[in-house]
Amino acid sequence: MNLLLEKTDKIRLIQEGSKLPYDLLLLADETIEAIDKYIHDSEIYIYEREGETLGVYALQMFDGESIEIKNIAVSKTCQGEGIGQRMLLNAMEQAKDRGFKYILIGTSNAAFRQLYIYQKVGFEIYEVKKDFYTKNYSQELIENGLPLNHMLVLRKQLND
Ligand code: ACO
Repeated sequence: MNLLLEKTDKIRLIQEGSKLPYDLLLLADETIEAIDKYIHDSEIYIYEREGETLGVYALQMFDGESIEIKNIAVSKTCQGEGIGQRMLLNAMEQAKDRGFKYILIGTSNAAFRQLYIYQKVGFEIYEVKKDFYTKNYSQELIENGLPLNHMLVLRKQLND
């Protein structure tokens, strides 16, 4: 898979006050309420092809040495083309350039494909937040036929 940015494509930070791509953000998180808890304190990057937004990721400072990808999503019709991995690599570059030591990303116990992609680009499982989904969401969430219970936090060191 080609992980270099295509000539027609660009990843750019959107300005504060711009319209947020909730349609994409909702592919990665369950509700607008959940997204609103972090999105207004995040930097939002969009993946554009000839002016059309195909992907988004949101970066939020976690602590002095770590930054977290709070949301990453690719338009359904463009998944599997490498856009997600290109955005992950871009997020790592942004974080490294700004002097962060680690980049974090969290996903559920049942998100096999996401776990595969994150580990493929160098993230390692770092922490398990037991019962995160059952405690934080009122409805039962299912993915790949399994209930979402625990959050796995993955981390990548940026100076390697
Ligand atoms: N369809 C496509 N690719 C698949 C599939 C599938 N059903 N199953 C496995 N894959 C593999 C591909 O083969 C590829 O691996 P390879 O490079 O070894 O060939 C890899 O998974 C796909 O890589 P990309 O094309 O870079 O991934 P994509 O552009 O689809 O982005 C993402 C990944 C962001 C997870 C996207 O699929 C998506 O938006 N999913 C829905 C939202 C979501 O779950 N977001 C993450 C939630 S966690 C968080 O936001 C912090």
